[in-house]
Amino acid sequence: MTSQPPPDPAGPPPERPKAVHRPVLLDEVVDWLAPREGSVLVDGTAGAGGHTAALARRVGPTGRVVGFDRDPAMLQLARAATEGLPVDLVHAPYSSMREGLESLGIAPGTIDGVVLDLGLSSDQLAWRDRGFSFGTDGPLDMRFDPTSDRPTAADLLAEMSAEDLANAIYEYGEERLSRRIARKIVETRDAGPVTTTAQLADLVRRCYPPKQRHGPIDPATRVFQALRILVNDELAHLDAILAELPEILAPGGRAAIISFHSLEDRRVKWAFRNDDRLSVLTKKPVTATAEETAVNPRARSAKLRVAERWSNQEPIPTPTSPRP
Ligand SMILES: C[S@@+](CC[C@H](N)C(=O)[O-])C[C@H]1O[C@@H](n2cnc3c(N)ncnc32)[C@H](O)[C@@H]1O
Repeated sequence: MTSQPPPDPAGPPPERPKAVHRPVLLDEVVDWLAPREGSVLVDGTAGAGGHTAALARRVGPTGRVVGFDRDPAMLQLARAATEGLPVDLVHAPYSSMREGLESLGIAPGTIDGVVLDLGLSSDQLAWRDRGFSFGTDGPLDMRFDPTSDRPTAADLLAEMSAEDLANAIYEYGEERLSRRIARKIVETRDAGPVTTTAQLADLVRRCYPPKQRHGPIDPATRVFQALRILVNDELAHLDAILAELPEILAPGGRAAIISFHSLEDRRVKWAFRNDDRLSVLTKKPVTATAEETAVNPRARSAKLRVAERWSNQEPIPTPTSPRP
């Protein structure tokens, strides 16, 4: 079913730019997870290793941070960023966290903190051969794990019915012109396959009246988000880990989850509120300061929610006021 050969699983080819990703809400995650000497923590989305490294520096030689990622190229960046630190990196989705930890001899129910920084990293966006960006031209791949045999975005665009495409674009992209865009994709593919990011972005833009094509948000944004979520089955992974987190955390252990759109944030909020093994520590989501968004515009839409596994011991002090 997959139409493109997977890239070299050994990682990014040398012409790729160095890590460009800035970890979002880094100080806030560290403050809320409050790692101590000897803590065992998990970063479910290690990426370029920003959060992993910051946490690992605080757990000392007796502690440990386990980082998961679906993307072998990102794990290579994480490996470089965490050299010399007590970090284990695992190539697996965070939804297999329990098995991944067990393979390292770490029992469920013993983890002091879990961080998830959802979505994709600026590095993946910058690598045009990965097909995540509508700003550059590349093959429509969009798999977080290009070594997997899952269908690429191009495969899905070639195979799905207009109705299924419209539903996915509406549901995962919250795109009001989903039907028009799906029809246009089907019309275009009847004349020849849609295989590149530029082709798809152009097709989507042409579904909008000329005046609306050049607003502050590119009309292709929502369709690219929808396809990425679909290709990687992102919400199913999130639902799976949300159901399992309370069993992975030690009593008093915390989960800190950063989401970037309402489909993710709603799930996190609901799961934290409705599991009686957890207590919610952030009544409202923590957002980035003006200083952070000035240097990292990606932080603008970030929402951090934190919950703690019930324990009858003295709670660890939590940050009570926003950082200055
Ligand atoms: C926003 S980046 C994380 C950046 C990281 N916190 C840092 O400081 O560099 C999200 C990462 O999660 C990975 N990812 C997405 N879905 C995943 C999943 N279900 N399991 C594991 N990793 C996933 C992506 O490949 C990407 O590297």
